[in-house]
This record gives sequence, structure tokens and C-alpha cells, in this order.
Amino acid sequence: MKRVPVEVEPRYEIFVGPGALARAGDLLEGRRRVAVVSQAGIAARYATELRGAIGAPTELFLMDDGEEAKSLATVEWLGRELARWGLLRDDAIVALGGGVVGDTAGFVAAVYHRGIAVAQVPTTLLAMVDAAIGGKTAVNLPEGKNLVGAFHHPIGVLADPETLSSLPEREFRSGLGEVAKYALLTDVVEDPTGLTGVLRLHAAEVLARDPVVLGEVVARCAAIKAAVVARDPLEQTGERATLNLGHTLGHALETAGAYDLTHGEAVAIGLVFAGALAGACERVGVDVVDRYQAVPQALGLPTEVPDGEALDPAELVALMRRDKKAAGGLTFVLPGPNGIERVDDPPEHALRYAFASVGIGVG
Ligand SMILES: NC(=O)c1ccc[n+]([C@@H]2O[C@H](COP(=O)([O-])OP(=O)(O)OC[C@H]3O[C@@H](n4cnc5c(N)ncnc54)[C@H](O)[C@@H]3O)[C@@H](O)[C@H]2O)c1
Repeated sequence: MKRVPVEVEPRYEIFVGPGALARAGDLLEGRRRVAVVSQAGIAARYATELRGAIGAPTELFLMDDGEEAKSLATVEWLGRELARWGLLRDDAIVALGGGVVGDTAGFVAAVYHRGIAVAQVPTTLLAMVDAAIGGKTAVNLPEGKNLVGAFHHPIGVLADPETLSSLPEREFRSGLGEVAKYALLTDVVEDPTGLTGVLRLHAAEVLARDPVVLGEVVARCAAIKAAVVARDPLEQTGERATLNLGHTLGHALETAGAYDLTHGEAVAIGLVFAGALAGACERVGVDVVDRYQAVPQALGLPTEVPDGEALDPAELVALMRRDKKAAGGLTFVLPGPNGIERVDDPPEHALRYAFASVGIGVG
């Protein structure tokens, strides 16, 4: 079992490895009762094991699937269910599921009785390496994603890579885009023990969802996110923005929505774009540009937009300007001589080159 500390106040740990769910006993020891929040398909597979590990009486609360369920209506429904069950201030909630369950149950934990303890038990690759770590919780409004939320750190995170065996392929690939991002964020190619090296040597095992290799990869990604979160727990210094590597174009492609790309596939193309843009701005050499292509490719992710010649770069630029993190300008997170940095308004010729390198707007 790997243990990754998250040095925030109060400190907590991420347990990664087969059997991680059994740690729920220690983590929730002494609680009077524990509410397990999940979704039907996930609970059918993993709730019995999890509830069996928890010493206190538990009750299962099943929310619906999908982004639409990440809503204030679900928050009200769950809050009322918890009140009827008699959940009190010193009890706890466990979120068993992907980012949708984690964000919703995490937000309910942040506001129920003005804040009660929550443990995150992520069951998607994306939630294991990203959503379950860092204390950001939120639900959506019809006006936009994640508009109502709070910072509320979990008391612990339990990630068992064996649960990923039942994850639909599309969801697994979505998490792989974030894995590629973490590898490039800490890209030290000379170090074969670094994440880039592990992915290069063991891409086949990752794709076959080998739980031992996945455990190694998840723990490394979690450690990278944990370190960034510890330095910028409330997203105030700008450091957390480096986690948006590959996401500026990625989000615009998702919003443009024409090609049914998963989040991770869109991020993968965004990473190739970011590498090419950094190269065209003469921030990095061709070796780095090549690596921004090779890492997503090794994970079987797309490096070009399918039928990208039909996309208008000007339309994507307009979408990127509207990105909530861009504040009106055109902002990217790019590699450079001083590491990963925010870069505003890159020159037109560099943008043209980067778009062409992912097959956008070129016939
Ligand atoms: N809080 C954060 O810091 C943060 C960071 C990134 C993303 N997010 C949020 O995470 C959400 C996306 O999360 P996601 O990608 O995990 O999607 P998700 O939670 O919707 O899960 C995807 C699907 O897989 C199913 N599933 C989950 N685990 C399974 C398993 N082990 N076996 C079989 N099926 C399983 C779910 O029921 C669901 O149908 C978004 O709402 C996003 O905003 C939050």
C-alpha cells in the first residue's frame, strides 16, 4: 500500500493500492454512524466491501449518474435524507465513486451541519489522480459547471486500482489524459524512474489496467497534485493553474463538442498543442515538443483532432478567450526555461503553427 501525504491543514493521506477500501475501518474509527454516498452501478460492485470495513453503522445513499445529477436538487435531496437518518455533526460521509459523486457528496459534507467529515473513495482514474484530491467540491447550475462550491478537504482518500477493472473504456481513457498531463508537468526524461519513464516502459500494462502498475502511476500522479495543493491550498498563488496544462485548448474542443472527444482525449490534444506552441514561441527545444506528442501517443490517446481541417481556429480562439481562467485575454500554461508557466497572448504565427500541429484548420 502506498501512502501519499497531503500537507494541508488538517493533514491527510491518500492510500493507493489493492485492498485500500479496507482502510476505511481505521480512517473512520470512533464515528457514531457513516453515510456512504454512491451510484447504483458502483455500489453494486464495491459498497458491500466498503461498508464491511467500516466499524460504525452505515447507510447507503444512491444518487443519479451524470453531470445533471451534480446539482443543488441532489444536494437538497441528500441533505434531507441524511437529516432523516439522523446524521450529526461528528458523524461522517464517504463518497464512493467518480468525480460526480466526490464533488456532490464533498459539497454536502462542506455545508451539512456547517461542515462534517468526508472520506473520498475514488473509483475512476480521473477521480483517483485529480478530483478526490485537493478539497475542491462543487455542483453545477444551469448557468455553468461547478458554480456553487466550497473548499472542504477530505479526512483521507482510499484509491484501489482494482476497482478500475470495471470502469468503461471511455471513462478510463478520460483519466489517461490527466495522467499524461502529470507526466509532462514533471517531465525529467533522463530519470527512468520518473513518471514519463514509467509510462514509456510500462504503457502496455497501464492500458491493460494492471493493478500494480496502475497503483504506481496513480500514486505518482496523486503525489504531484498533493504537492501543488499543499503549496496553494486555496488557489490563491496561481500555482494550481499549472494543473491546467493542456486544458486551454482541451476545454475549447470539449465546448465546440463536434467530435465527441472525452475530457482526457481533448486534454491529450491540448498537450500536443501546448508543446508545439511552446516550441513556436522558442520557449523549449524540439526534444520537448516531441515529448508532448510522444507521451499521449504512448497511452493510445489522440494527438490530432479527427477531421480537424473543418474546425475554424478563430472560433476556438474565441472559446479560449471565454475560458473562466483567461480573464478576457488568451492565456496558456506552457513549458519553458523556468518550468511550467502562464503565458499570455502568444504571437499569431505561433498559434497558427500549434493549431496546424494538431491538424486544426489545415486541409
Ligand atoms: N474537485 C475537483 O478538483 C475535480 C477535478 C477534476 C474533475 N472534477 C469533476 O469530476 C467530474 C468527472 O468525474 P469522472 O470522470 O470520475 O466521471 P463520473 O463520476 O461521472 O464517472 C463516470 C461514470 O463511470 C461510472 N463509474 C465510476 N466508477 C466506476 C467503476 N469503478 N466501475 C464502473 N463504473 C464506474 C460512474 O457511475 C459514471 O457513470 C466532473 O463533474 C468534474 O467537474 C472535479
